[in-house]
Amino acid sequence: MSRVINSQKILSKNRQSIIGKNILVRVDFNVSLEKEKIFDSYRIESSKETLNFLKPAKRIILISHLDDPKNREPKYSFKKLIPQIEKILKTKIGFLENFNLPIKEKISLFENLRFWPGEKNCDWNFAKKLASLGEIFINEAFSASHRKHTSIYLLPKLLPTFYGLNFEKEINLLNKVLKTKKSLALILGGAKISTKLPLIKRFLRKANLIFLAGGLANTYLKAQGFEIGESLIEKEIINEIKKIKSGKILVPFDFHNQNLENKFLGEINQNDIIYDVGPESLKMLFTELKKYNTIVWNGPLGYIENQNFEKGTWLLTKFLLTLKNKFILIGGGDTLAFLQKKGVLKKFKNISTGGGAMLDYLSNPRNFIGLKW
Ligand code: 3PG
Repeated sequence: MSRVINSQKILSKNRQSIIGKNILVRVDFNVSLEKEKIFDSYRIESSKETLNFLKPAKRIILISHLDDPKNREPKYSFKKLIPQIEKILKTKIGFLENFNLPIKEKISLFENLRFWPGEKNCDWNFAKKLASLGEIFINEAFSASHRKHTSIYLLPKLLPTFYGLNFEKEINLLNKVLKTKKSLALILGGAKISTKLPLIKRFLRKANLIFLAGGLANTYLKAQGFEIGESLIEKEIINEIKKIKSGKILVPFDFHNQNLENKFLGEINQNDIIYDVGPESLKMLFTELKKYNTIVWNGPLGYIENQNFEKGTWLLTKFLLTLKNKFILIGGGDTLAFLQKKGVLKKFKNISTGGGAMLDYLSNPRNFIGLKW
């Protein structure tokens, strides 16, 4: 069952309400940084449409978290990122370091919300302080909306609230997957199978094929008793994975190890580390994918942090771009960052900014925090 956004909460139908008002907008500017440079700007870019729509407002105050700091360290501050964000959004942005500063600019970005413990603790006092910054609240942070945090969960209870244009678009895309009666393939990569297990369990009924790669496949293969050497696995969850048996689950059977040798399952020895999916498994995957109308992909197929092991993920990307007349939905922070680095992200039509949020929504839309108000 999918969730439908209440039409009264749709921003585009409520333009009158924002005219001349101070609008508090929860965005997700939790971007990856490389040497203090924003590496994946897609999440920031995806708030553009809403910010344009809000032009008739008096002021716009953006709020977001950045990473997960333990302390108020300067490296986690939004302050130094303002010039880069201005460039991406092509507009002037003021910086609000705390609550008692006068708001001067038309658009301002508040300091990293997680500098205040009240953000993650879901604290009403912090919520009230944040709410005092605006008269209307907009959630344009789909990718953070699986978190039961103050800015996601409590603010809608204090201020009249609408969903951002991109939030609405993403929910509609994910609903399309949930509602599809057509054949469906799910490709899941990344490091941890535990974060994707609820989705795997739910989609064992719904999908026709679930292809696991990366750390997910390693853990799955280990649970099936295969030798995978020193490859990354999640030991704690092996017993639970052993219980999952389905002909719908497909895993790679050849790999690239740390020395870039191509090895088949059975040839892997104790010292090997699986870092990428091999060519024969990809061939099998591509033949399979041609059969399905809907394809959902979340998570890289290999250890893409190292260029030597991005080949599988890149070949899959190029293959998906050749497919016509299929609904292909791609999500997950690492996956999007990779596609952006390769300059092909915008060639895909259906993108979810969500990593955890996309997984959460697809596995249990009724309990999605960002829609619970
Ligand atoms: C994300 O990157 O998935 C969201 O911004 C949520 O971030 P978090 O995992 O640090 O809560």
